[in-house]
Amino acid sequence: MNLKGRDFLKLLDFTPEEILYLVDLAADLKEKKKKGILTNEIHKGKNVVLIFEKTSTRTRCSFEVAAHDLGMGTTYLDPSGSQIGKKESIADTARVLGSMYEGIEYRGFGQEIVEELAKYAPVPVWNGLTNEFHPTQMLADILTIKEKLGRVQGVKLTYMGDARYNMGNSLMVVCAKLGMHYTACTSRKYFPKESLVEQCREIARQTGGTITLTEDVMEGTKGADVIYTDVWVSMGEPEAVWEERIRELSPYQVNGRVMENAGKDAIFMHCLPAFHDLKTKTGKEMGEKFGITEMEVTDEVFESPASVVFEEAENRMHTIKAVMAATL
Ligand code: CP
Ligand code: NVA
Repeated sequence: MNLKGRDFLKLLDFTPEEILYLVDLAADLKEKKKKGILTNEIHKGKNVVLIFEKTSTRTRCSFEVAAHDLGMGTTYLDPSGSQIGKKESIADTARVLGSMYEGIEYRGFGQEIVEELAKYAPVPVWNGLTNEFHPTQMLADILTIKEKLGRVQGVKLTYMGDARYNMGNSLMVVCAKLGMHYTACTSRKYFPKESLVEQCREIARQTGGTITLTEDVMEGTKGADVIYTDVWVSMGEPEAVWEERIRELSPYQVNGRVMENAGKDAIFMHCLPAFHDLKTKTGKEMGEKFGITEMEVTDEVFESPASVVFEEAENRMHTIKAVMAATL
């Protein structure tokens, strides 16, 4: 498998074999890291730049640690610390950074921005999250599912919440690609875009996967192997939508009843950060305003043995390392 020089913008651009190759490479790099085997000869002397137009904990730290482990230097550009988009176009930025760095990570708004960056940059570009897709998260999630369930093909994954944004879209794509059974269990308003659903159904026809959309919680979560959720309001969305999201998505909260209805050994996953208590500024503010103590997932489920969220978070680093190891 040779992925050298490839961009990593969305999983629709990759074959099932390529996706599984990256997941297996990540597992191998993870094992090496656990054993203390150094991998810093792989890309020794190279440099990568990390552009974040939205904030991050996991993705930024994963890119920084992974780059270091591969022998590379990093430059972090924070949401206000560069000329990008304000004084300099994406096309010009791509050519400037492409002349100094061997790879470019971008987290920001529209998918078209990262696609444009890749079009003009002479080096690989990696999508660290856009409004539409979060492909590096998918590799971590598949690695976690493989580790926990011992299989990927045929796994039933139910996503609850805003299924038309980056996490819902990406999970639907990866499930289609890998022959998994994807269910978006949410209010109709939050169903993914029809054209993407059709595209995924077409892919799933060839891989043995299925795509289901349902508003019925009991039907949508019955026998699921994985119950997955994400925040109800994503980065970059206006504060004003909180009230309607809480009202409309509360019926799709992951709680004890949902987990009981899922498969016997079902796991709970979340890309994080999560609002499962009032220990965050936003969680506390919304909690007080709307009289709630938890949002997309109850604290009980989040802290339960079924929850694999912190292993999932760790896997972000190993999988991002695999992407950089393979594409540079
Ligand atoms: N899951 C994820 O992307 O987390 P960060 O926003 O902290 O990078
Ligand atoms: N949907 C979330 C994902 C965070 C990793 C957001 O875009 O904020």
